[in-house]
Amino acid sequence: MSEPVDRLPQTRKSYESPTFDRPESSPLALFRQWYDEAAEHVREPNAMTVSTLDEWGPSSRIVLLKGVDETGFMFFTDYDSSKGRQLQDDPRVAVNFPWHDMERQIRIRGLAEVAAPEDSDAYFAVRPHGSQIAASVSKQSQPVSGREQMQSEYDAALAEYADRDVPRPDHWGGFRVRVFEIEFWQGQKNRFHDRWAFCRSDGSHEPADLSQTEAWTPVRLYP
Ligand SMILES: Cc1cc2nc3c(=O)[nH]c(=O)nc-3n(C[C@H](O)[C@H](O)[C@H](O)COP(=O)(O)O)c2cc1C
Repeated sequence: MSEPVDRLPQTRKSYESPTFDRPESSPLALFRQWYDEAAEHVREPNAMTVSTLDEWGPSSRIVLLKGVDETGFMFFTDYDSSKGRQLQDDPRVAVNFPWHDMERQIRIRGLAEVAAPEDSDAYFAVRPHGSQIAASVSKQSQPVSGREQMQSEYDAALAEYADRDVPRPDHWGGFRVRVFEIEFWQGQKNRFHDRWAFCRSDGSHEPADLSQTEAWTPVRLYP
C-alpha cells in the first residue's frame, strides 16, 4: 500500500534490482527480453504513453502496443483524433513503458508513420465485433453531448452490421513508431540507477533497424 497524497514528501520506495551492465544484444533483442520478463510481473505491460506535439506543446496519453519488430513499435488509433492529427502534422514522437513492478522503464524517441493499410486491415479484422463498432462510430477526441448520443450511434451501427463484417473505417488504423533512440532504465539502490541509451552509431537522429547491432551504440548515462 502507498502513502496518501498529503504524505508525498515522505513517500519513498527503495529500488534494489541487480545491476544492469553494458548490453551486448541489439535494442530489439533486449526489448523482447525485457517485455517477456514484464509480461510475468506487470499488469498490461503493453500499455505505453505516447507523446506528441502541436503548436501549443506536447501532450501524452496511453495506448496499447500491438506489435514490435525491427522497423519499430505499432499501435492503433483514430487518425482524426488529437494524436492522429498531431502525428500526421509532425511525426516526432516519444514513447514510454513505465514498468514499475520491474523497477524498469523504456524510453523511446522516434518518428511516427501511418501504417500500411494491409497491416491496419489485418489488425482490425481480429478485433472483437463490439470494438469494431466502437471504432466505426467514435469521433475520437471530439466533444459529444452525452453518453446517450454515443450509445444511440453505437446501437444504430450494431443493427446495421448485425449479420455482416464491419469494414475498417478510413479514419482508423495503425501508426508505426520508427526509432532513433531507445533507453533502458533499471532502478538501483540510493537512486543510483543504471541507464543505457542506444544511440545511432553514426551520430544521426535517423530511425534505424532495431535488430542491427552495429547501427546502435549503447551509452551509459548518469542516473
Ligand atoms: C490502458 C489504456 C489503453 C488505451 N489504449 C488505446 C489505444 O490503443 N488506442 C487509442 O487510440 N486510445 C487508447 N487509449 C485511450 C487514450 O489514452 C486516449 O484517451 C485517446 O486515444 C484519445 O487521445 P487523444 O485525444 O490525445 O488523441 C487507452 C487508454 C488507456 C488508459
